[in-house]
Amino acid sequence: MNLLIQSTGLDIVPAIIAKMQSLRSVWSYHPYPSSVECDYAIVWKPPAELFAQQPNLKAVVNYGAGVDAILAMNVVPKNIPIIRLEDAGMAQQMAQYALYGIIHHQRRMRIYREQQLLGAWQQHEDRGHIPNPTVGVMGLGEMGGHVANKVAEFGYTTIGWSKSAKPMDRLESYAGEAELPAFLSKCDVLVCLLPLTPETKGILNTHNLAQLPRGAFLISAGRGGHMVDADVLSALNSGQLAGALLDVFHEEPLPATSPYWSHPYVLLTPHVSATTPLQNACEQIVAKIEAMERGQLVSGIVDPARAY
Ligand code: NAP
Ligand code: GLV
Repeated sequence: MNLLIQSTGLDIVPAIIAKMQSLRSVWSYHPYPSSVECDYAIVWKPPAELFAQQPNLKAVVNYGAGVDAILAMNVVPKNIPIIRLEDAGMAQQMAQYALYGIIHHQRRMRIYREQQLLGAWQQHEDRGHIPNPTVGVMGLGEMGGHVANKVAEFGYTTIGWSKSAKPMDRLESYAGEAELPAFLSKCDVLVCLLPLTPETKGILNTHNLAQLPRGAFLISAGRGGHMVDADVLSALNSGQLAGALLDVFHEEPLPATSPYWSHPYVLLTPHVSATTPLQNACEQIVAKIEAMERGQLVSGIVDPARAY
């Protein structure tokens, strides 16, 4: 079996080939571009020419969880299924990231850091704990479902919101547009782990942010396109949002001119909340390809109609 390995923007093709080789040495691996006719392609933001050169692909594996980029490029022929990574070691990292942000806010770490810089010893009400904040997770899939469970295990009142109803142990869940206002009205911390689709684009806007309790904290680690930047900044400046931990942006790298860089209430990271672990990802890709070859159902096939 021939596998084509391509990646734009991530310099990991040799590492993927070496890891795949160590897992299945009987398969042949070809860095893109290749004149060898391949059965599967492992890609990240593939160019259109790849599909012109490889007319007999049985499937394309997206080397990541989010498929907004590959769908927006509109380069994959409709008859070729796109398979995405599911968790593959990212969900645990995402839970750690979300907990960091939740604790930063709930234990008033920004204020204590500011006081430290001033040499000020001052305890605040409750000695610095926001009592019983409710954490709301938007998106209850591989990422959000795991994050919500871990946040609940940590003792936070946790609620979740998804497209279809998703009853979950230990947490109250809401579904669909109709239940969004009730969900938002309870979120002292809002964690956005939705996929970027036409329905979720711009969901972090003034209308929705205004429904959060005043002084809420935003953690955005799904995609930058969820935020209407001017609205998020305005909520931060008005005190509607007390702060934000942001990992994903409309334009990456984040332009030097972005007000987020210097905003005193923003913590930002360069799209590292959950990176794709090589070993885990390659094992999952091998398992999915083998299942396809056996004619079995494979999970993680992207539904183009849903766009995730
Ligand atoms: P997933 O398993 O497909 O889960 C998506 C969740 O979002 C599902 O619960 C889905 O509802 C819900 N959803 C989708 N559209 C919705 C809508 N219109 N209204 C309400 N809920 C909606 O995806 P995942 O693997 O958890 O990944 C989610 C996203 O995280 C990815 O698309 C990617 O953008 C991002 N991500 C970021 C990083 C990073 O490093 N920053 C790393 C990994 C992933 P249903 O359950 O009803 O289908
Ligand atoms: C990272 O952002 C991913 O979608 O895997």
